[in-house]
Amino acid sequence: MDKIFVRGGKSLNGTVSISGAKNAALPIMAATLLTQDVNYIHNVPDLRDVATMAHLLRVLGAKIERDGSTLIIDTTHYNYYEAPYDLVRTMRASIYVLGPLLAKLKKARVSLPGGCAWGPRPVDFHLRGMEKLGATIIVNHGYIEAETEQLKGNEIYFDTSSVGATGNVMMASVLAKGITIIENAAREPEIESLAHCLTSMGADIKGIGTSRLEINGISELKAIDYTIIPDRVEAGTFMVATALTKGEITLTNCNPEHLTAVIDKLQEAGVNITKGENTITIKAENKLKPIDVITSTYPGFPTDMQAQFMTLMSITEGTGSITETIYYDRFMHVSELKRLGADIKLNDNVAVIRGVEKLTGAEVMATDLRASAALILAGLVAEGETLISRIYHIDRGYEHIEEKLSALGADIERIRD
Ligand code: UD1
Repeated sequence: MDKIFVRGGKSLNGTVSISGAKNAALPIMAATLLTQDVNYIHNVPDLRDVATMAHLLRVLGAKIERDGSTLIIDTTHYNYYEAPYDLVRTMRASIYVLGPLLAKLKKARVSLPGGCAWGPRPVDFHLRGMEKLGATIIVNHGYIEAETEQLKGNEIYFDTSSVGATGNVMMASVLAKGITIIENAAREPEIESLAHCLTSMGADIKGIGTSRLEINGISELKAIDYTIIPDRVEAGTFMVATALTKGEITLTNCNPEHLTAVIDKLQEAGVNITKGENTITIKAENKLKPIDVITSTYPGFPTDMQAQFMTLMSITEGTGSITETIYYDRFMHVSELKRLGADIKLNDNVAVIRGVEKLTGAEVMATDLRASAALILAGLVAEGETLISRIYHIDRGYEHIEEKLSALGADIERIRD
């Protein structure tokens, strides 16, 4: 298994181009199953999760080629409807094929994802949503077995706003008969972008970007020719890296509008930020001030930036806190950050972080995607050497991270197994 080695203390300077968003690319790749045609998706990041989704689409009968950052997905002859355990187990987002398969082939057999590193992460909203659209669902031998003669529009309310369930039900309902209303729909930019992609295929969706979506089902969709939006989590991670290392970098190909909460919190911590149309310049000179962060659904502070901010708060002057309201147990990085000298006290879903003078390099282990990013960030600022193992987690969601950081001046390398 590859490891990442970081020698801390270098400030990051220069320009970095932000890649396409993983969490937008995955549902849009699944949406190709709504057509039997040749689809073009541009600005697709080269990531392990994207490769896993491509593998799954191939299992279902699609042909896929990559031309630079464009994926060409030919679903003309796909007719298989089973997402096997081996793929779903490695990537929960595989559940995104459920809606499209039910809508197009009227049948789906998708392995039930298990728990994940930070808790149970159920899929009950997805299943209930499909049932409300008229699907019969049973769970048998670890698989969701879903069937329908024809999906029919209905009113669906989610107890909690869920990114995955909103995307899945939206994809199912675009080919359902009649009108579907989704109340308390997720408003994350990746869901908004999925809705725009479906609209470009001919779908009739009103209320895009709001918590009430109205979908008027149609009988057939055109192929996809769509460009993936920039990755706001990758952008946020590079912003934190700059703040930590007292550097100055400009992010290009990003969307500042998607990063309001993250930018605001960094400014509160004393970081200078200038927004352009597709650029953000970050300059950090002063000592970082402590802040309090509460994760919530968009446009609130993203849970996917929580671990990286914890690293930042580890070296602020004073005490700050992070309250995690989306995934109560998403704190696997705490014990690893403590190995680097961070002073963090955890009480249920609230972490209190007392800034220390410095972090010191050590051997640490990545436990999940964003936790790996937090550890790399800590390594960039820690005194001495940090060796991060189980780095395969980072390859799920950050495109060529060590190359991008190294181009900005970081002393970082991947040690191949
Ligand atoms: C997506 C993102 C993930 C991000 C998360 C929250 C992708 C591929 N992943 O995950 O990076 O951290 O949004 O922004 O886009 N819930 C239920 N039942 C369900 C579904 C969700 O109880 O059927 C709960 C979850 O446990 C969680 C909350 O709803 O507490 C939100 O989860 P959700 O928005 O669905 O997250 P994902 O789509 O899995």
